[in-house]
Amino acid sequence: MKEKALNQISWDQFTKMSAEEKSPYFLTGNGTKSYHALVAQQFSRPMLEELCSLATYVRRIAKTREGCSFLQSRLFDKRAMLYFAQPSTRTYLSFDSACQTVGLDCMNVRDSSTSSEVKGESPEDTIRTFSSYTDLIIMRHPAGGFAERIAWLLSNTGRPVPIINAGSGKDQHPTQALLDIYTLERSFENIGGIDGKKVAFVGDLKRGRTVRSLAWLLAQYSGVKLYFVAPPELQIKKDILAQLDEAGVSYEVSHDFEKVIPEVNAIYMTRIQDEWDIDNESTRIDTTQFYFTKEYLNVLKKDAVIMHPLPRRKEIDVAVDCDPRAVYWRQVRNGMWIRSALILSIFGCDRRVRDYYEEHVQ
Ligand code: CP
Repeated sequence: MKEKALNQISWDQFTKMSAEEKSPYFLTGNGTKSYHALVAQQFSRPMLEELCSLATYVRRIAKTREGCSFLQSRLFDKRAMLYFAQPSTRTYLSFDSACQTVGLDCMNVRDSSTSSEVKGESPEDTIRTFSSYTDLIIMRHPAGGFAERIAWLLSNTGRPVPIINAGSGKDQHPTQALLDIYTLERSFENIGGIDGKKVAFVGDLKRGRTVRSLAWLLAQYSGVKLYFVAPPELQIKKDILAQLDEAGVSYEVSHDFEKVIPEVNAIYMTRIQDEWDIDNESTRIDTTQFYFTKEYLNVLKKDAVIMHPLPRRKEIDVAVDCDPRAVYWRQVRNGMWIRSALILSIFGCDRRVRDYYEEHVQ
């Protein structure tokens, strides 16, 4: 548990902490709820289960006009800022949709070249300005740990607001991991849930922030086994493996995709993240043996799922899309529901939503 408030810790002290040590500072309600959503490590198993069930309630309530109207009246008096300093299709649109679902008005800056950063304003000052106008900041930024820095910075101002990390550098994409967990939970609801399942991560695991965040969330489930399947140059970093070792999670590091496919319950494909290349090094790595082709559907378990955070390039053949085990388009839709649930939970609206569900939907 934390001994001090975030504004009582210097930035220097804070940066020296591990993600697990920082996590309590992002929580509220005796550590049971998110105030900020910044790192995967802050989400405990009970928190994940609560968010997934809330997402299902929101999804079902939103099926009627009355339900939509109820949801939209939850946060009609609040505003959100969507600050995306890196390109995005899904995360931006699903947060925008989630805000509309729960009635939050949205403002946005989708390109730093349209903000006063071009006049020399620091990103910190720019985002502090957003906090003057809004009640929630949802941000994607190329610098790892930048969302945490903003949460710390605002805790030292007169107007701290919750921060949601919508993707930071190569390190974290916690809300993608939440939607991935929600998709896995829904996919496995009739076969014992996520506990005991085998999940393979494939592709660029070194620079894929979605993999890093999801690997940590999966460590909350008992008996899971993770496979990291990639060329040696793009393998998962040792810090994640050290965290899995500490959590007692079983894993294998492999480059033999064909061997792993029939063994697992979920395959999580990723694209090559060449936006981080320094010298076009990705072009010198042969990744074709890590593509999921339609022939592999024959050896995949009948109740397994194929996932991808998207965008994809060639790593999943489009012919795979019509197989019922391909759930990447369902992930996109699930993102809207779990992000709606996260926002409602941050603003303490979850109890009212559960009550409405029990009275009007169940
Ligand atoms: N999955 C994901 O983060 O997609 P976008 O980059 O399009 O937001």
